[in-house]
Amino acid sequence: MWLGFDYFFRGGAMKKILISGGAGYIGSHTVQALAEAGYGPVVLDSLISGHRKAVGESIPFYQGDIADAGLVTDIIKKEEVRAVIHFAARSLVGESVQKPDLYFEENTAKTNRFVSTLLQCGVNTIVFSSTAATYGNPEEIPIPEESHTEPINPYGASKLMIEQSFYWLEQAYGLKWMALRYFNAAGAAWDGSLGEDHTTETHLIPLVLKTVLEQREAISIFGTDYKTPDGTCVRDYIHVLDLAEAHIRALEALEQGIPCGAYNVGTGTGYSVREVIAMAGKVTGLDIPVLEAPRREGDPDRLVAKVEKIQRRLGWQARYSDLETIIKTAWQWHQKHPHGYGD
Ligand code: UFG
Repeated sequence: MWLGFDYFFRGGAMKKILISGGAGYIGSHTVQALAEAGYGPVVLDSLISGHRKAVGESIPFYQGDIADAGLVTDIIKKEEVRAVIHFAARSLVGESVQKPDLYFEENTAKTNRFVSTLLQCGVNTIVFSSTAATYGNPEEIPIPEESHTEPINPYGASKLMIEQSFYWLEQAYGLKWMALRYFNAAGAAWDGSLGEDHTTETHLIPLVLKTVLEQREAISIFGTDYKTPDGTCVRDYIHVLDLAEAHIRALEALEQGIPCGAYNVGTGTGYSVREVIAMAGKVTGLDIPVLEAPRREGDPDRLVAKVEKIQRRLGWQARYSDLETIIKTAWQWHQKHPHGYGD
């Protein structure tokens, strides 16, 4: 019986896709999207910030560190891994300023060891979770990929160094890589089964919704004197399901031989902090207590992606990232899981 091209190409009979950090926020949504698209995802996660419950029981799961060469080698051989999507990282900007050494070790150094192991095992295709924080304070809005990269915190620097190392690994060993520079990831799975659950929550949308759930007294607006129409910071919010799809497109494009490099993943449209809070009020139907607070250190006025490159080369476009859909799905997750995954 002929099982069809998709069966062989996507992983029914062929090798699988290893997802490092697959139990984290963006990782878990990507694992689910891969499984739904017929790929065979395999998860490696330390569970330092990820959640075991965010990964379906039917998906092969390994708890451990990306720098553990023995474990990574065993997984690649046992699961017949053909490519990797690499999310595992520390991602708190404030913490990175306090402990830069932790970020250069956990993100940059460990990724270097991880990729060395992959290459030794013959796996040379990697989609990497990068960030708009690589740009620092942008000179131009919307921000094109060729824009100057000068991170203003160690988190962004740790990710930019990884991108730079990939360029040299490509020259030396033929690494096929794509770095996806996310803007502001937000939203949750359609059915409310997966969502955002960080031990230390710093992001605007979950904090606004926790305020609605009366887990917080008010939402603080960090700065009202920015050079933006309403004085509050403007960000490009991208639905986590659109992000998940971008990873699959990136993987397919790399396997088809598209040039390696960095790609913005955003919508090209920005919303202010006040607009986000107003939309959360509309979606939830409740008044949200607001506190005007001083600026948070290191926040640029505006971060909005130029998205032509990913649209043109990968044929990807955000589909679910209008602000209302983002907040509706996030609100569904928070209502169903007021205390996250509960672990
Ligand atoms: N904000 C508030 N009050 C809060 C929390 C956030 O006003 O309680 C504001 C922030 O000052 C910022 C905006 O809401 O202007 C968005 O803040 P988030 O913390 O949700 O997101 P960031 O833009 O700071 O961070 C995102 C990614 C990071 C990445 C960074 C790049 O989440 O991983 O963009 O600058 F590093």
